[in-house]
Amino acid sequence: MPKELIVVHGPCTISGTIHVSGAKNSALKLMAASILGQGTTTIHNIPNISDISVMSDVLTRLGARISREGHTFAIDTTEVNSFETPYELVSKMRASISVLGPLIARFGCARAAMPGGCQIGARKIDMHLVGLEALGVQFDVDHGILIASTPAGLIGAHVMLEFPSVGATENMLMAAVVAEGETVIDNAAREPEIVDLCNMLNQMGAKVSGGGTSSITIEGVPLDSLHPCEHTTVGDRIEAGTFLTGGALTGGPLQVTGVDPDYLKMAIMKLRAFGCMVETDSSSITVSRTGDLQPTDIQTLPHPGFPTDLQAQFMLLAALADGVSVITENLFENRFMFAAELMRMGADITLEEHHAIIRGVSHLQGAPVSATDLRAGAALVLAGAVADGTTWVHDIEHIDRGYEDYVGKLSCLGVDLERIIEA
Ligand code: EPZ
Repeated sequence: MPKELIVVHGPCTISGTIHVSGAKNSALKLMAASILGQGTTTIHNIPNISDISVMSDVLTRLGARISREGHTFAIDTTEVNSFETPYELVSKMRASISVLGPLIARFGCARAAMPGGCQIGARKIDMHLVGLEALGVQFDVDHGILIASTPAGLIGAHVMLEFPSVGATENMLMAAVVAEGETVIDNAAREPEIVDLCNMLNQMGAKVSGGGTSSITIEGVPLDSLHPCEHTTVGDRIEAGTFLTGGALTGGPLQVTGVDPDYLKMAIMKLRAFGCMVETDSSSITVSRTGDLQPTDIQTLPHPGFPTDLQAQFMLLAALADGVSVITENLFENRFMFAAELMRMGADITLEEHHAIIRGVSHLQGAPVSATDLRAGAALVLAGAVADGTTWVHDIEHIDRGYEDYVGKLSCLGVDLERIIEA
């Protein structure tokens, strides 16, 4: 497959209205949860991105039959009979590990390749394992393959997570729904995507309460009482925040629709701190700016704190602000690679362990750059849109993992860009 790159001709004004796709970080787990339904679960508003294709491959390998029509997937898991997630798929996408909980719930056992790390960090799963072990799961590792068994079945327990891990919360949730008795997950992740998963599990007959809070209670039900359902994925708050950054960069006005503004309270607060005006209604957010960008400090934290998945995008705002901003990355050990690429475009950034000190500059210059992860890639395209001259963004397969038709959407917002095949 020839590699492609995105060529951006700046500077542009980024404004208009864009409807965001369904949330990648919800849809992937909703698809995994369909294993529990033992029939055909229909999920709407699934984004057309490569990570979804990988999850489809994982489920198909397990024996599921998937038919899709636009953004709607019908996933028939009746015939799911295998419980092995192969390395070549897990290594492509860490989120494949999200099938672990549902496979254990359905079969009482599972085999999954241990996910490797990625550009932004080690991406361990120790909290997934500790949490599931508390429910009676036993793990062995055989040549990189995780082997899960439940000799005495799944037993509900009161478990405290050391850190509100999104993935660990989700895997525990999907196992606990059929565990005997009550499970309480303390220090649970509170992301909107967790709430979406809890809602779908309840539609399937599970008994989950407290989704979106730090304490989630699950009353176990028999596996055969769970049934397929029809569910619509929530809008993608990170895609929305990415486009809002574009509007903030050049003044907008830019409106995003299809997402609950409550999912982006901290990002909206920071946009206002950067000197933007932000207006919201029940399912849209509009950003505009007339004065200079103001320097603003940011700490990335678990939801409802500032999302790490918007860190690169907001670093771009800081790079053009009238002063010095400090961004602290608390979730991943190596998520400042975007800074190195932005410095090649003229940004003035100093990295001190998990702090980035950003001294605003008056403008950026177009340059050849490389996407290191999907959020950095998306931010580099925005940087090219506001820079003087042409920017060539390489390794855009990262962007395709999480943004549906990113070039098409930005074109509609006034950006002069195209995808071309690398010579
Ligand atoms: C989810 O990853 C998202 N991915 C990430 O989005 C997001 O950045 C992250 O949550 C935090 O919000 C999906 O949902 C597919 P974590 P996840 O478990 O579940 C460490 C994007 O750009 N950790 O909350 O992997 C871990 O290494 C992606 O869309 C352990 O040490 O996040 C990380 O440093 C990037 N042990 C931190 O905790 C564990 O057992 C947060 O991880 C689990 C996690």
